[in-house]
Amino acid sequence: MAQSLIYLLLAWVVVTAPSDGNPALAQKCESLELPHFEEFDVINVHSSSVFGYSITGNPTQTTIDFCHVNVSLTHSGADDIVLTSIWLPFHGWNGRFQATGGGGLAAGYFDSALIQPVVDGYAAGSTDAGLTLNNTLLAGDGSWALTPEGKLNQGLIKNFAYRSIHDMTVIGKAATVALYGQRPHHSYYTGCSTGGRQGYLAAQYYPEDFDGIMANAPAIFTPRVSPGDFWPVVVMENIVAPPQCVFSAFQAATVRHCDPQDGATDGLISAPDKCDYNPKTLVGQTVDCPELSASVVITTAHADVAAKILEGARTSSGDFLWFGNPPGAAFDGLANTTVVNGTIDIVPFSSGEAWMKYFVAQDPELDTKHISFDTFESLYFRSVELFTDKLGTDNPDLSGFKNAGGKLMTWHGMADAYITHPGTTLYWDKLQKKMGGRHAVDDFYRVFLAPGVAHCRGGYGPVPSDPFAALVNWVEKGEAPDTLFASTTSQGGQVNRNLCHYPESLRYRGGDLNDAESFICSLSSYNTLNMSNPEIYTVGWVASLPVEGDAAGAFLDEEHGLLAS
Ligand SMILES: *[C@@H]1O[C@H](CO)[C@@H](O)[C@H](O)[C@H]1NC(C)=O
Ligand SMILES: *[C@@H]1O[C@H](CO)[C@@H](O)[C@H](O)[C@H]1NC(C)=O
Ligand SMILES: *[C@@H]1O[C@H](CO)[C@@H](O)[C@H](O)[C@H]1NC(C)=O
Ligand SMILES: *[C@@H]1O[C@H](CO)[C@@H](O)[C@H](O)[C@H]1NC(C)=O
Ligand SMILES: *[C@@H]1O[C@H](CO)[C@@H](O)[C@H](O)[C@H]1NC(C)=O
Repeated sequence: MAQSLIYLLLAWVVVTAPSDGNPALAQKCESLELPHFEEFDVINVHSSSVFGYSITGNPTQTTIDFCHVNVSLTHSGADDIVLTSIWLPFHGWNGRFQATGGGGLAAGYFDSALIQPVVDGYAAGSTDAGLTLNNTLLAGDGSWALTPEGKLNQGLIKNFAYRSIHDMTVIGKAATVALYGQRPHHSYYTGCSTGGRQGYLAAQYYPEDFDGIMANAPAIFTPRVSPGDFWPVVVMENIVAPPQCVFSAFQAATVRHCDPQDGATDGLISAPDKCDYNPKTLVGQTVDCPELSASVVITTAHADVAAKILEGARTSSGDFLWFGNPPGAAFDGLANTTVVNGTIDIVPFSSGEAWMKYFVAQDPELDTKHISFDTFESLYFRSVELFTDKLGTDNPDLSGFKNAGGKLMTWHGMADAYITHPGTTLYWDKLQKKMGGRHAVDDFYRVFLAPGVAHCRGGYGPVPSDPFAALVNWVEKGEAPDTLFASTTSQGGQVNRNLCHYPESLRYRGGDLNDAESFICSLSSYNTLNMSNPEIYTVGWVASLPVEGDAAGAFLDEEHGLLAS
């Protein structure tokens, strides 16, 4: 308490320092001295003052002034060059540090991720984890996974998996000491997708780095998720590639059929486990297809493709490998096609394709246009075998993080095809079993599912408005978020929801369907209460999918103890 009062006073001093360019800080910035770091060798530090950096899309502020610190570093034995950027605002530093993550096969987004934190008064950091090979490559293309000799680049994989967010955070905290003369009083992490995975990783392996972690739509279980993301392409290659108009018809029909099953016909599927949509019901119907300038009659093969994509990756004998497109999610992310001169071509999801080529097959020439179901199955198991240790990120023991007082918050769209929310609820389930049940877990870990929301943003359902503020309140004021306010205008009018904290889910109690107050949070709608142990909940959506004795049954049994009964 006394300590935070001192921080407050210090922060106040900084805030009220002369702000016309803040010459003292700017001067300090130009010759910033960072300490020696144990974790890595610094190659180069370059810091300079940036004035009037212009930003767009912010109604109240159009420019920011900050100290831009670039640190390049290397790890002994890794032959890597990691670029790390820390931005430290010259005016109104709020006394906090915010680390930011990446997405796909990239570890960080630099400017686009750092602007908002700096506008909000945070010192903030981003890292490329060495994946751009000293700015010669776009990290997202994934080719960094192989050395010039064609072997897995273990150093970079280690950086991507866990090392670089930690390094960046160590540098960021040191930079606030060097510039402002004090460590941040609170440190946060924020990221989505791969950025979400990086956040879980931090909670699992560097439990003291952050007081609060916002890790949304996390790519935990990456060694399963990534080949799973390539499944729709394999299905289309081996059966038929439908035009997008056909997929849109399946998506719309799924929503029509399953939306009412959660008790509210609001255009949103809030209880996907109840969704029993059968694509065969559309066979024979005609859909208008602008991209072909024609009408298309939906065939049995089209329905088969949609069913397999909804079901998710399976072995060639039909056993569960991973979760499919959530019902109501758009197909175009992972099952994209385009019409070229009247012919329908498959457009593979680039990160999924890169994963198969560079990480799993380790063959840049892999013919991703012709992968049989058998080959897919062996690539899937190879992915799991090679990368689960480093990139599984599913260690359910968060006791270090809990004991350090950390809070981990996640929201996940339920119409996210790229990283499906059952992966997140599977982790939640493992965690609560390991750490004393759901109420014990509530103290430091909360998950919010958002019906109709796509990957990290977008879709057609209400998107959380300011989840980060909720996290900061939780960390600094002890106000744990029971619900997360979300809204959208994507369908015209405004639709609001108070998203429930898992395992509770939205239940309609009557009234205006656009109004958050018309819904309550309740336990029973898609979870099964185990009466002999009311603290432990079984996730219906997860438990209903795998069949006893199949690959997933074995996976879930052995590694997660989920299907023990
Ligand atoms: C830091 O690196 C970025 C990206 O390479 C570059 O745009 C920027 O000018 C650098 N700033 C400093 C102060 O070195
Ligand atoms: C990395 O790139 C910078 C800027 O292009 C260059 O000055 C430096 O020599 C490069 N480092 C290495 C080790 O190649
Ligand atoms: C689908 O592919 C088309 C053509 O390449 C591309 O313009 C579009 O952005 C892709 N859609 C998605 C969701 O990736
Ligand atoms: C489309 O067809 C025309 C005429 O046959 C040809 O010149 C063109 O290269 C084709 N375009 C593509 C993208 O294949
Ligand atoms: C319910 O919990 C008890 C005690 O933990 C366990 O033995 C049993 O298998 C569980 N039943 C189900 C259906 O999960």
